[in-house]
Amino acid sequence: MRVLGITSSYRRLGNTDILLRAALMRIKELGGDVAAICLPRLELKICKACYHCFWEDCMIQDDVEWVYDEMEKSDALIISTPTYILSIPGALKLLVDRLLSLYRRGDIFLGRPAGLIVAYGVEGWSGLALENTSTFLLATGYRIVDFIKVRAAIPGEVLLMDDIISRARLLGERVYKAASGEATSPIYTKENCCPICGSEALHIIKDKVRCPLCDIEGQIELIDGEVKVMFPKDAYEKSRWSKERRMEHLEYLVSSVNEYMDVKDQILERTKEFLAFNPYIKPEEYK
Ligand SMILES: Cc1cc2nc3c(=O)[nH]c(=O)nc-3n(C[C@H](O)[C@H](O)[C@H](O)COP(=O)(O)O)c2cc1C
Repeated sequence: MRVLGITSSYRRLGNTDILLRAALMRIKELGGDVAAICLPRLELKICKACYHCFWEDCMIQDDVEWVYDEMEKSDALIISTPTYILSIPGALKLLVDRLLSLYRRGDIFLGRPAGLIVAYGVEGWSGLALENTSTFLLATGYRIVDFIKVRAAIPGEVLLMDDIISRARLLGERVYKAASGEATSPIYTKENCCPICGSEALHIIKDKVRCPLCDIEGQIELIDGEVKVMFPKDAYEKSRWSKERRMEHLEYLVSSVNEYMDVKDQILERTKEFLAFNPYIKPEEYK
């Protein structure tokens, strides 16, 4: 049983690195094999939106395919990320944007367990880092079995929080157990969040809520004066991450590329006027 860890912080022994190591150390104690990747220390290039990866390997030469190979070799994945400007660091976003090229590998990650660790520095400023990372995991097919959001600002501050280190170890244990088939359902410690991605950023529509990431609806209920959100038991099967809906979306993407081929010449013809007008500038060294 191999569990891969990915961190998106460049800081060695920063909060996300330490929490990831704590989770992986627990897995190692349980008999698992572990490895970790520090994304900002790799060469990751931007997606060029060419859609070439729908038919053949991605043309960009960098470390992304190596990361996918390591994910493929592992039974489970843990991503540990800091919050940067209410979102995720660029290195992780670069990987997220490249995931279309994963579709060619088929549904190899479908149902594999994942854990998610998010660190943020200021209460109320965690933004959408959890959601942005969940999207990558769910879109690739993983099921999130546990997540932690930790407030820690100073580098290495989590080392002063024994309860948080224990919590990260528990996350590792849960991921390991899910990968060994000992636990199958997602384990969440928080109420009123999406049971699939963990998001609290839910849209309110009359007496219902909708998770904008997973596209599932929950019912709002008032119990003893407190708002409770109830999601259906088969939320995952109803979500956009279910095998059927993922397949539908892939078919839609492929058909829209085919549609583009039908109108490509017409579009190219109309680009002439715009091509003649070039307002773009570059730093001197790139000219
Ligand atoms: C560029 C940058 C942007 C940040 N933006 C936020 C933010 O929007 N909200 C927040 O709560 N913390 C923010 N932080 C704080 C980090 O999320 C926090 O310190 C985290 O523990 C860092 O994890 P690390 O030590 O693993 O890098 C930011 C830190 C940096 C360096």
